[in-house]
Amino acid sequence: MQQGTDTVGQGIAGFTSPPTGMLVGGEWREARAGASLPVFDPATGEVVAAVADARVEDAAEAVDAAAAAFPHWSATSPRRRAALLHDVFMAVHERAEEFAALITLEMGKPLAESRTEVAYAADFLRWYAEEAVRVTGTFRTAPDGSARHLTLSRPVGPCLLVTPWNFPLAMITRKVAPALAAGCTVVLKPAEETPLSALHFAHVMAEAGLPAGVVNVLSTSRPGPLVEAILRDRRIRKLSFTGSTGVGRRLLALAAPGVLRTSMELGGNAPFIVFDDADVDAAVDGAVAAKLRNGGQSCVAANRFIVADSVAPQFVDGLADRLRAQVVGPGADPRSTLGPLINGAQRDRAVGLVDDAMAHGADPVVHYGTAAPGDAFLKPVLLDRVAPSAKIARQEIFGPVATVCRFSTEQEGLALANDTESGLVGYVYTRDLDRAVRAIEAMECGMVGVNRGHISDASAPFGGVKQSGLGREGSEVGMQEYLETRYASISAAP
Ligand code: SIN
Repeated sequence: MQQGTDTVGQGIAGFTSPPTGMLVGGEWREARAGASLPVFDPATGEVVAAVADARVEDAAEAVDAAAAAFPHWSATSPRRRAALLHDVFMAVHERAEEFAALITLEMGKPLAESRTEVAYAADFLRWYAEEAVRVTGTFRTAPDGSARHLTLSRPVGPCLLVTPWNFPLAMITRKVAPALAAGCTVVLKPAEETPLSALHFAHVMAEAGLPAGVVNVLSTSRPGPLVEAILRDRRIRKLSFTGSTGVGRRLLALAAPGVLRTSMELGGNAPFIVFDDADVDAAVDGAVAAKLRNGGQSCVAANRFIVADSVAPQFVDGLADRLRAQVVGPGADPRSTLGPLINGAQRDRAVGLVDDAMAHGADPVVHYGTAAPGDAFLKPVLLDRVAPSAKIARQEIFGPVATVCRFSTEQEGLALANDTESGLVGYVYTRDLDRAVRAIEAMECGMVGVNRGHISDASAPFGGVKQSGLGREGSEVGMQEYLETRYASISAAP
């Protein structure tokens, strides 16, 4: 690694820093003409590494490698693919501290949260190691008896995986593990902000014995042209993307000419409803989890707290106390409970949304005072009585800013929850089982947390409806995203 990065692994026995090249066909390569992509520590704004900056020419070679590796990998026995994924799962666990240090370095979250991410990331490897040997088919007699119908699942082919910066490792394993389990090969383009975790993961996979070309990794400062070039290549058969709805729409358009299979995990605007019969203390605990995980930089972060009038004062007081108690500081400092946002621009965007909401009448119950622009830290904010039409209630905040609006009837609460183009997750707090079931059925989203503020799990189908995306990741459903159904009709004389 480059200047400044030798501190990454301090105190971690045997940690060799991640590679800084690009991985194509099993070879670590330097960039053409030495082009490099700087990696910043969000806590200091300093450059901590420089990695190879891939160009469009590299895209073609990465697709060559993924396409060349596909026949052999797809024919590799499920048991062998499972064993390899299991070995990678073990290696990630053994090297959890290295991964956690890298995640905190390049993304900023507190070390304790990075460790949780590593465990979450490893779970996808274990789940899909188990799933690899459970791909089934059917055999049936045609209704008129003249044929037998055989259905089987085949890997879709070489895939392009585009991952975000907010979970630099888990969003990679959530795509790579089912792709490999299904027999697909991949070109991975990690976020330009967080390439180190991706490169270290690729290194760990290669050490575990992954054949050349099965996983190829290109980091780049010019994601647009690179991704476009890969999607134009007809050998690529699938795109899986996690990121904003705006970018997702553009990628869907680019995937259309090749009629690619797509999985789109896009933005959210999660409602968090606290009904009048809720256990309010539990709701406050859930709210802290759903709002502050990753500093609010998650598509499943609670964006709008929708609280029954009768319990709103207790909920707002409880949440305000918990937000004031947060220790904001560098993720590497064990005292920090909230790290920096990914960069100053993200912070300024959140501040702009807060200012706008206040200009439109929101009540600042917890507020940072005058926020100096320029660094990436943001103290938590709690705004009460936010108008449902305010910008902050219509957009994904991606920061530690909680907004509350109040309601009086169940119907009104559910209508407010659904008043958005997004539909990823919703949270509901109630002690009434009938009401919980009504809410699960009425909420327009792919996932519902009932009396809990955390729903992410490798064994569950993660994904959204409306403009929050297409397809699911995790569980056996996530495996189907990398398989296509083939049907053979076999003539059979009666
Ligand atoms: C995301 O924010 O994109 C994913 C969060 C999760 O998997 O919990």
